[in-house]
Amino acid sequence: MPVTQRFGEGHRILVSGGAGFVPSHTVDALLARGCEVVAIDNFITGSRDNVAHLAGEPRFTLIEADLTEGLPPLPGRFDAILHMASPASPTDFTKLPMEILKVGSIGTMALLERAVEDAARFLMASTSEAYGDPLVHPQPESYWGNVNPNGIRSVYDESKRFSEAATMAYHRFHGLDTAIVRIFNTYGPRMRPDDGRAIPTFIDQALRGTPLTVQGTGAQTRSITYVDDLVRGILLLLDSREPGPINCGTEHEITMLDLASLIVRLAGSDSPIELVERAPDDPEKRRPDLTLARQKLGYEPQVGPEEGLSRTIDYFRTLSNASQ
Ligand SMILES: NC(=O)c1ccc[n+]([C@@H]2O[C@H](COP(=O)([O-])OP(=O)(O)OC[C@H]3O[C@@H](n4cnc5c(N)ncnc54)[C@H](O)[C@@H]3O)[C@@H](O)[C@H]2O)c1
Repeated sequence: MPVTQRFGEGHRILVSGGAGFVPSHTVDALLARGCEVVAIDNFITGSRDNVAHLAGEPRFTLIEADLTEGLPPLPGRFDAILHMASPASPTDFTKLPMEILKVGSIGTMALLERAVEDAARFLMASTSEAYGDPLVHPQPESYWGNVNPNGIRSVYDESKRFSEAATMAYHRFHGLDTAIVRIFNTYGPRMRPDDGRAIPTFIDQALRGTPLTVQGTGAQTRSITYVDDLVRGILLLLDSREPGPINCGTEHEITMLDLASLIVRLAGSDSPIELVERAPDDPEKRRPDLTLARQKLGYEPQVGPEEGLSRTIDYFRTLSNASQ
């Protein structure tokens, strides 16, 4: 069923983590629709550079604040709140475990309370990590997952699962208008070269001419989504009346070894590929079942891996040129 646009000119949207990779692209899309956007960020993994192009935009405000220390003063009412703040890279799971747990618990609760006060639509950025190392493939929203509750990834997986539980409790108990997007591996411009996730790491290595470090045998797979496709899905979900989790991603599944080879080719690099030790609890495979996203939102990814990766490589080249 086609979704009719609910949010646009005259609507005020709060985006937590607004200076991050996915959130900053979401901010751009909301502004392009005519919304007024307030972004909160403590820059723990995001950067002012991601929203620097919005300097002088009267419909955009950036507030530096840590969500886990209580919300800063935010006068006026919001029509929608998008909770996207959280460190999200596997390297953050060991570097920032407390920050991840707090933003997914204290931060989520603070924004849910504000959404109730404002009678705002509340959209929470969840993750395919909610499925853990899945025993069902591809993963439909009805699958409860296979998560190690106290392993190295648990700070992230469980904080997102807690956020989902809290979001649904506010929906059931307070009648809050909610939405949950389960995001599958997304890549694109504004990722950090030292972010620790596979795609920025491989691109950075390919452009430097150093070996691409593929974990394990490289046979593990991911479905990779270009950020523009994800943001379209997020806005479709925001516009819809769907309260619960919906997968957003692509069905294009690729092994880590093939991904590394593709990046070497697209970057015109002569870097070799080197197999390194695999991180604990690293999932074997991930692919979204997009049936619900298609049925409820009319969502269809449009950007293929060659095009998306080429655009991302171009962005990383501008970064390395700027630093020379
Ligand atoms: N990129 C992906 O593939 C992916 C996959 C699944 C889920 N997600 C989710 O999407 C959201 C955005 O992810 P991303 O990849 O763009 O990561 P990101 O790190 O670039 O963005 C997150 C932003 O949140 C900010 N932040 C973190 N803690 C905060 C706090 N306590 N107070 C205020 N700001 C805070 C960071 O500084 C950063 O700007 C996250 O919630 C993440 O869990 C992303």
